Amino acid sequence: MSDVLVNVERKDVPLRFEDLENEAQKHLDKNVFDYEQSGAGIEETLRSNREAFSNWKIVPRVMRDVSTVSLHTTINGQSIPAPILLAPVGMQGISHPDGELASAAASAKYEVPFIASTVSSYTLEEIAEANGNGKRWFQLYYPNNVEIAKSFVKRAEIAGYEAIVITVDMPLIGNRERDRSNQYSPFLLGAGKANYAADPVFQEYLAAKPGAAVLDEMLQTFYRPGLNWEDMKPIRDAVDLPIYLKGILHPDDAEEAVKHGIDGIVVSNHGGRQLDGCIATLDALPLIKERVKDKLPILLDSGVRSGPDIFKALALGADAVLLGRPFLYGLTIAGQSGVEQVIQNVLHDLKTTMSLSGIKSIQEINANAIRKTYR
Ligand SMILES: Cc1cc2nc3c(=O)[nH]c(=O)nc-3n(C[C@H](O)[C@H](O)[C@H](O)COP(=O)(O)O)c2cc1C
Repeated sequence: MSDVLVNVERKDVPLRFEDLENEAQKHLDKNVFDYEQSGAGIEETLRSNREAFSNWKIVPRVMRDVSTVSLHTTINGQSIPAPILLAPVGMQGISHPDGELASAAASAKYEVPFIASTVSSYTLEEIAEANGNGKRWFQLYYPNNVEIAKSFVKRAEIAGYEAIVITVDMPLIGNRERDRSNQYSPFLLGAGKANYAADPVFQEYLAAKPGAAVLDEMLQTFYRPGLNWEDMKPIRDAVDLPIYLKGILHPDDAEEAVKHGIDGIVVSNHGGRQLDGCIATLDALPLIKERVKDKLPILLDSGVRSGPDIFKALALGADAVLLGRPFLYGLTIAGQSGVEQVIQNVLHDLKTTMSLSGIKSIQEINANAIRKTYR
């Protein structure tokens, strides 16, 4: 790890997020870039995510012997080299032909857990193979057919995924105005159907309907607007894996998660892609932490771009963060190497941030190290 941190040799992927985004834009068709970069509605949530990070400032300590700084941490007993995971991002094949195979291989190199989306461009088994001895979790968009849901998570368990992340903020798609103006949806074009097409239970369901097409039937069963707490039980019974809920923003829901024996939550607003005008994740975090305390691990995403961002999230109670668009843009620009460079840059930035803040370990980061300012 220390070699990796000092040896930032490759330079084809820009360091700063804005440059990364601009460079990625050059590699993509307008519709694809808009799909990835945009948020729902007038993009207030998208902007708020960043503003929230800017409203908190680190108050460094000095002369604290930072000759050795460790990024290592654990989540539910799972050891990880840094408090970072790669967020579930669907249909990565529209960004780069190698898609999830490249990002899963890159994450394995750094032992950063890779969270594979239900709507990935490759099957979860193919992604597992590319991830090899790496750490991987599976994200479930809970289908409106519980047998298919169970089949997905069982396949994930067999393929070596170590946790299930159920995304709960998508009973339907957000009002993505840019995609609607462009009349573009990779989902409707079938870019995320690999896991469905390969699923034995889905295939049986298809066979029972002569003439049915994979994509049409997937679209029929994809959304589960009735999703509720009782739906957790079949998943719990199907697999022996920890269950995380992604898309929690209200302290009451965090408390419900504890009551229902959920193993962890991801404080997320889906990178501003679902509900517009909604609370920034960093603003939601302190009340959630106050309510659930240490009863379950809290992960956070949406707007995490740098080492200082990660530091602030951890100071306010997160145990780890998920990187979304930054690694997706790295993938777009340079495939596996691009994702590796983004991970490397973020690790380097986090280590620098900790050292300059007088903090030697992840466990030492707390609210004493930051202060809210108003701009
Ligand atoms: C292009 C794109 C596709 C995404 N696909 C999924 C998905 O399949 N499942 C999911 O739970 N979240 C998905 N997300 C949300 C991410 O997991 C994560 O919450 C979000 O990217 C965090 O915001 P940030 O990228 O601005 O940091 C997607 C996000 C983007 C940008």
